[in-house]
Amino acid sequence: MTTMAGRRHSPVPAPGAGFWEKVDERLGLSGWAYPIPEHANSLPYMLGGLTLFGFLILIATGILLAQFYNPDPANAHESVVYIITQVPLGDFVRSVHFWAANLVVVTALLHLIRVFVTGSYKRPREVNWLVGLGLLAVTLGFVFTGTVLKWDQEGVEALAHNREMGELLGVWGVWFTGEFSRSVPILTRLYLGHVTLLPAVFSLLIIVHIYLVKQLGMSPRATEAAVSGPPTKEQGDSNFAVHLRKLTGYGLLLFSLLGILALAWPAPLGRAGVPGVEVTKPPWMFLPFYPLEDLFGIRGLLVSAVVLFVLLGAVPFVDRSPWLSPRRRRGVLVAGALLLLALVGLGVYAWMSRPVPHLMG
Ligand code: HEM
Repeated sequence: MTTMAGRRHSPVPAPGAGFWEKVDERLGLSGWAYPIPEHANSLPYMLGGLTLFGFLILIATGILLAQFYNPDPANAHESVVYIITQVPLGDFVRSVHFWAANLVVVTALLHLIRVFVTGSYKRPREVNWLVGLGLLAVTLGFVFTGTVLKWDQEGVEALAHNREMGELLGVWGVWFTGEFSRSVPILTRLYLGHVTLLPAVFSLLIIVHIYLVKQLGMSPRATEAAVSGPPTKEQGDSNFAVHLRKLTGYGLLLFSLLGILALAWPAPLGRAGVPGVEVTKPPWMFLPFYPLEDLFGIRGLLVSAVVLFVLLGAVPFVDRSPWLSPRRRRGVLVAGALLLLALVGLGVYAWMSRPVPHLMG
């Protein structure tokens, strides 16, 4: 008989077999120690895994928060105040959730930049680049709906943008408007989006994403001579068990950092929101779009977001040279750097400018 790891063993366990051998025989755990390249164990190649670790923290803290959050518009803000002031460790759990949400956006963006710089989106990994973009969109969806749930001024204004966007999209955006359901308030439906729809889409995408990483193997190290091409599946000088151990180490560091941030700077909450007033700015990851909304209204917001995702989606189909090394791909990297600079510039400008009303009503 052969185990998942390819080891032969007899149908009867050896008399002196240790505890782990017996467990391994039943669960095939040694099968996880499949070969992977050594460079996959460095931090830049673990940013995706670290993002996933952040999501596990978000799920755990999110489940705790859901026991006390009330998605009814009349009670939502009050229930967040209750979480902060009455629930044992409620403020801490909410703050870890808040900081984890910010950190997964940072690690996901750094992961995207690593994949871009090392040319890891090239053949045969184009589909995984697109799935990654889907994951990024869902991640931003989580942040957006989470912002609304607080039901403070920032949340009420975010919801107003959600409505306007829905109306702009016409038939395609009806789900985002109050007209879609007369029996369930839109805040409650966005809460359902946050805790059921988005997690379902995220789970589906992450299963495909990880499946493709496993099937295609990690992209080769982007040396001067490296080319995209034959998958590195199951080829390497390290193994996945080592990778997982290192990832757990980085993950625990991330967890400690979240704990410190949560204790030092608890998640903010404004007063109960007043509809029809616009005095706040969006969370930092949406700031680059804010000046465009100033200039072109809600349409500017939609068009710039679509253009950005289309540009990113086109990357593997435009950059078709086989080279992985950044030195051999100067044009693409300069274009990427300019785009990043423009986004950071717009974000800083929005951060420094005063909030401006954009919406009609
Ligand atoms: C937002 C949540 C995301 C999660 C949880 C995630 C997770 C992962 C994981 C665990 C890996 C294995 C290698 C590593 O950790 O670097 C990976 C690889 C990969 N990801 Fe992501 N990812 C996400 C977003 C993205 C984005 C935004 C992109 C790009 C648009 C992307 C594109 C890729 C590609 C092309 C690979 C293969 C890289 C290689 O073989 O070197 N991912 N991802």
